[in-house]
Order: sequence, then structure tokens, then C-alpha cells
Amino acid sequence: MTGIKAGAPAAPQDAGVPYLLLQVVHLLCAMAFAGVVFVEVLLLPGVRRRLPARVALPWEHAFGRRARRLMPWIVLALYLSGAGLAWHHRGALAQPWSSGFGTLLAVKLALAASVALHVVAALWLQRRGRLTGARSDWIHRSVLAHVLSIAVIAKAMFHLVF
Ligand code: HEM
Repeated sequence: MTGIKAGAPAAPQDAGVPYLLLQVVHLLCAMAFAGVVFVEVLLLPGVRRRLPARVALPWEHAFGRRARRLMPWIVLALYLSGAGLAWHHRGALAQPWSSGFGTLLAVKLALAASVALHVVAALWLQRRGRLTGARSDWIHRSVLAHVLSIAVIAKAMFHLVF
């Protein structure tokens, strides 16, 4: 029977402060990552249309350069803290189909792996000079859809029981 049931797996009580620290780092990095992708997909195109190119282009390049400086560290901290969190749930992950929590966490990790593949694909295309505007827009939109789905699943997995 599916439904919302109180008492779905909570954060491992025995994990204490280290788990809380991992959760806080993970949440803050997820917010920063989702925020930058949100700006790139939903705000920058509108700004670009309203500004003359001689203003919009240098601004976008400066934004991109700054993001390429900061984001690799934020994404690294996001994935490392995620791995630390997942380690505490390794029992549920070992049998992903035997609980709603395990299944949703496995789906979340698959989406996170797909996000990493998007980033690697973008870097690979860029290195070969084949990252066209259209391809970059597509990759950013897909990453935004992934990240928003991951955030919803990250909350649902503690409440949905099936
Ligand atoms: C694009 C990558 C990712 C994003 C955007 C993301 C986002 C999130 C968000 C928003 C939460 C909820 C945090 C909270 O309620 O405090 C969460 C929880 C979690 N994430 Fe991620 N995550 C990502 C990658 C990963 C990876 C790679 C792993 C494991 C290898 C992971 C493991 C977890 C676990 C176990 C939780 C539950 C923690 C808890 O609330 O007790 N995440 N994630």
C-alpha cells in the first residue's frame, strides 16, 4: 500500500553531529548549485534580450568565468558530502527495492550520476570547441530539471512509503 506515513526512516540517530554537518554542507552546496543553474537557465536569457550585446556579452562572460572558478569546488563538496550521507544509508541502498526510501534514494543517486555525466559531456564538448549555444542551453535545462527532481525526491524519500 502506498501513502504518506509518519515514522519513515529518519536520519540515523546514532550518526549525530557528523551526519548533521554532512547534511548542512550537502544542503548549502545543493542550494548554490541549483541557484546558479536557475540563473543560467531562467534569468540570463531574459537579461540578454533586454540589454545591448555590448553590455550583455561581457557580463555573461564574466559570470561564466566566475562560475567556472567556484562551481567545481561546490559540486565536489556536494558529491563528497552526499557520499558521506549515503554511507549511513548503505543498508537501504544495498536492497533498493525492499523499501520506498531505498528505491527513491537509488533514483536520486542515478539522477545525481546523470548530472555528473552532463557536466563531463559539457567539458568534453567545450574542449573540442563543439559546445554550441544550443547544446549548452539544452545541457543547462536538463541539469535544472534533474536538480529540481533530486530536491523533491530528497524530501519525498523520508515520507513516501511503498
Ligand atoms: C546534483 C547532485 C545533488 C543534489 C542537487 C542533491 C540535493 C539534495 C537535497 C536538496 C537533499 C535534502 C537535504 C536536506 O533535507 O537537508 C539531499 C539529501 C540527500 N542526498 Fe543529495 N544531492 C545530490 C547528490 C547526491 C549524491 C551524489 C549523493 C550520494 C552519493 C547524495 C545523497 C544524499 C542523501 C543520503 C540525502 C539524505 C540526507 C538526509 O536528509 O538525511 N546526494 N540531497
